[in-house]
Amino acid sequence: MHNNRLRAIVGRVEDLPTLPRTVLRITEIINNPKSSARDLAGVINDDQVLTARLLRLVNSSFYGFPQRIATVSFAIVLLGFDAIRNLLLTTSIFDLFNGADRELQVEREKLWDHSLGCAVAAKIIGEHLHFEKVEELFVCGLLHDLGKIVEMAYMPNDYARVRARVKANDELILLAEEEILGCNHADIGHLLAERWNLPAPVPDVILHHHTPVRAGEFMREAAAVHLADIFCRALEIGSGGDHRIPALHPPAWEILELKTNDIEALLHRLETEYHDICPFIQASTAISPSEREA
Ligand SMILES: [Fe+2]
Ligand SMILES: [Fe+2]
Repeated sequence: MHNNRLRAIVGRVEDLPTLPRTVLRITEIINNPKSSARDLAGVINDDQVLTARLLRLVNSSFYGFPQRIATVSFAIVLLGFDAIRNLLLTTSIFDLFNGADRELQVEREKLWDHSLGCAVAAKIIGEHLHFEKVEELFVCGLLHDLGKIVEMAYMPNDYARVRARVKANDELILLAEEEILGCNHADIGHLLAERWNLPAPVPDVILHHHTPVRAGEFMREAAAVHLADIFCRALEIGSGGDHRIPALHPPAWEILELKTNDIEALLHRLETEYHDICPFIQASTAISPSEREA
């Protein structure tokens, strides 16, 4: 529907951000069922920054392993492939949020908090409903508003108009984007996720996180992220760029078969787990000067 406008926008955005090559290689390895832990360790070991981050994380109090883990291979065995991919994507995406643009820095940080909150919320919802792959949901939640990052970083003039309209009308950012850009952050984020070859269901969940019923075979995952987004807005975890809580897409409720009685416990768990992970992820992902020089 938005294809022409979207194509025009992408044409204007000359350098869409790229994921570090190492992360792409790691995603390929993890997607290949024939890969071994040794293949994965080989790639990570070639990247000093990722190695340092991984070892710092695995030795942190968040995991609480009793002994010091000194090698990447051992970390992979302890955490598993999915958790490693999760971590590496998280740290690479954090770098995108951490751009040099001072004016938008506060807003980007709030969006990062919102994204991290949605990642935790989606995982909690998935665990509660016994989804098979909850780690995937974490990544989907983390990246659901990726399109907004592209707008902030690569279309600052358009984004300023969107922001002004949201403020003047106190409306949802999604509506302001539709009016001004002719497409929305879900379309833009989806396009980037496809360019990055992110594994299913990530691109589809990004595209349909506001309309989960359209997500086909990934309807449940999209509905979980949709609900996670609303949870984070209700608890005011970060900010997605407006002050409104979007209406729950009614079919999402039926898709998830969640009981209303469960919501309070889920919100409570989200608040606790988000505050546990938040300072830790911030500290563990920021690149120190020594790492930059490495
Ligand atoms: Fe969104
Ligand atoms: Fe969001």
